[in-house]
Amino acid sequence: MTDRSNALVSANGGLPMNRNIVSLLLTTMLAAACASELSRPEKKAEKPAGARIEIGAGHFNRDAKPFHYWDKQKEIPAVCARCHAANGVAQYLRDGANTPAPHVRNAFACTNCHADMLSYERHRVAKVIFASGLAVDSGDNNMNLCMTCHQGRESTASVDKAISGMPADVPNLKLAFVHVHYLPAGATIYGTEAKVAYEFAGKSYAGRFNHVPGMNTCTACHEPHGGELRAEKCAQCHQGSRPEKSARELANGMRELYAAIQHYARAMGGAAIGFSPEAFPYWYADANGNGRIDPEEVRPDNGYKAFTPRLLQSVYNYTFLLRDPGAAYHNGRYAGQLLYDSLENLAASGKAGVEMRGTARP
Ligand code: HEC
Ligand code: HEC
Ligand code: HEC
Ligand code: HEC
Ligand code: HEC
Repeated sequence: MTDRSNALVSANGGLPMNRNIVSLLLTTMLAAACASELSRPEKKAEKPAGARIEIGAGHFNRDAKPFHYWDKQKEIPAVCARCHAANGVAQYLRDGANTPAPHVRNAFACTNCHADMLSYERHRVAKVIFASGLAVDSGDNNMNLCMTCHQGRESTASVDKAISGMPADVPNLKLAFVHVHYLPAGATIYGTEAKVAYEFAGKSYAGRFNHVPGMNTCTACHEPHGGELRAEKCAQCHQGSRPEKSARELANGMRELYAAIQHYARAMGGAAIGFSPEAFPYWYADANGNGRIDPEEVRPDNGYKAFTPRLLQSVYNYTFLLRDPGAAYHNGRYAGQLLYDSLENLAASGKAGVEMRGTARP
């Protein structure tokens, strides 16, 4: 722990600031505070107010996979560098794209988000462009910054492109799993304004989830550095610590959808399917048909190969909801609609063991 913090502090240019600058900043920020406080900057420097930064957690989780997936390669590829380089954001915002980046050693640099290390001002992010091509401006610069990375990498459009012209229920070897990517919270919150999840033709979907004013941005609910939920705030208005009902409903719906996916695949694809969190491509052939993916079934050559267009649509959405563990809170209605439509889609084949009668679309 100790050497980790040292490494990070020195890597980003050093946290302890020049004392005169500290007192200057404090003078501006705390104009109303008593003068004796300000005359002792040493004390303030020992106990900084505001930001809570824990080395080893969230964006500073320096040993985590998102920072080391490319260690055996020459560098981090250009298409991955925006979200995985130590310092890729500014270049992306300036040029709209990245060049390959050096390997990461200490997770994100402070300057990946902060444009200035004295004022801690953040980079200006005028808008966020999703993989669908749709763009939004939340009106909150910090939230736009978060969504620059927390937005996924595929969309309704990319799934439609993959299945274009193919009959719904015929397995096609050309079809491979389309993976939305990880932690796409911004896409969930914006719903149909982002179209990163798969939206079925002819249906209408919820747009941005508008929570109460003052609690409607990423940083109102999360710490910006470690990502922790600011759970103490939820309890001010919600009984218990936070509303759990929609999370429970979503979890139940996910189990139903998974069962329907397996049922349909056996019936139409002619091969059993299962999900494993272990490794890409995540959806594997369940060769022994025991309903789960065993360690020996997690092999690159055992990725599921009998996708029909219908199966791909529902598997895409199942994975989207799985990749945003906060989906029930970020946009419960949108998540419910995706779940409902993905189930209904499989049910329409008549081969998924699903009965939609008596259920209502959220
Ligand atoms: C738009 C932003 C974005 C882009 C571009 C992006 N990623 Fe990611 N990626 C993320 C986020 C956010 C996570 C954090 C997920 C987590 O820890 O669960 C992540 C996590 C990962 C992980 C770790 C998964 C795990 O199991 O923990 C791998 C591997 C990965 N990305 C590979 C890639 C590759 C390869 C590329 C380029 C082809 C890429 N990413 C491009 C945002 C992005
Ligand atoms: C993932 C982006 C990100 C990274 C990386 C990051 N910060 Fe921040 N930081 C923010 C955001 C966003 C805020 C504003 C949060 C708010 O106002 O609720 C902030 C606020 C702060 C503040 C409080 C500033 C104020 O005006 O109150 C300090 C101090 C700070 N960060 C220091 C750091 C340091 C030091 C590092 C590197 C170890 C770092 N940050 C890395 C996003 C980041
Ligand atoms: C430069 C890309 C980038 C930006 C900008 C960014 N994140 Fe992240 N975020 C990531 C990656 C990568 C991870 C995964 C880190 C890991 O595996 O520990 C992550 C993890 C998280 C987590 C999960 C933390 C955990 O340990 O479970 C939360 C919550 C989160 N970010 C929220 C935010 C918020 C809020 C902002 C805006 C203040 C933000 N992120 C900005 C890339 C980014
Ligand atoms: C209304 C409050 C709220 C808002 C606004 C919000 N979140 Fe969340 N978020 C949550 C809750 C609650 C969870 C679930 C946390 C848990 O189960 O510990 C969550 C989960 C997450 C996770 C997964 C964390 C993990 O440990 O896997 C990420 C990443 C995340 N949020 C990012 C964001 C980003 C980025 C934004 C803005 C685009 C955002 N959130 C806006 C409440 C919120
Ligand atoms: C200032 C009061 C206030 C605070 C603080 C607050 N909420 Fe809410 N929240 C509301 C109100 C009002 C509603 C709308 C009424 C309802 O649906 O219960 C709501 C609704 C929600 C919903 C949608 C309802 C559902 O069941 O799907 C979620 C999810 C939610 N809040 C999460 C959170 C989380 C997580 C936090 C803490 C990070 C939080 N809220 C903090 C007032 C607040």
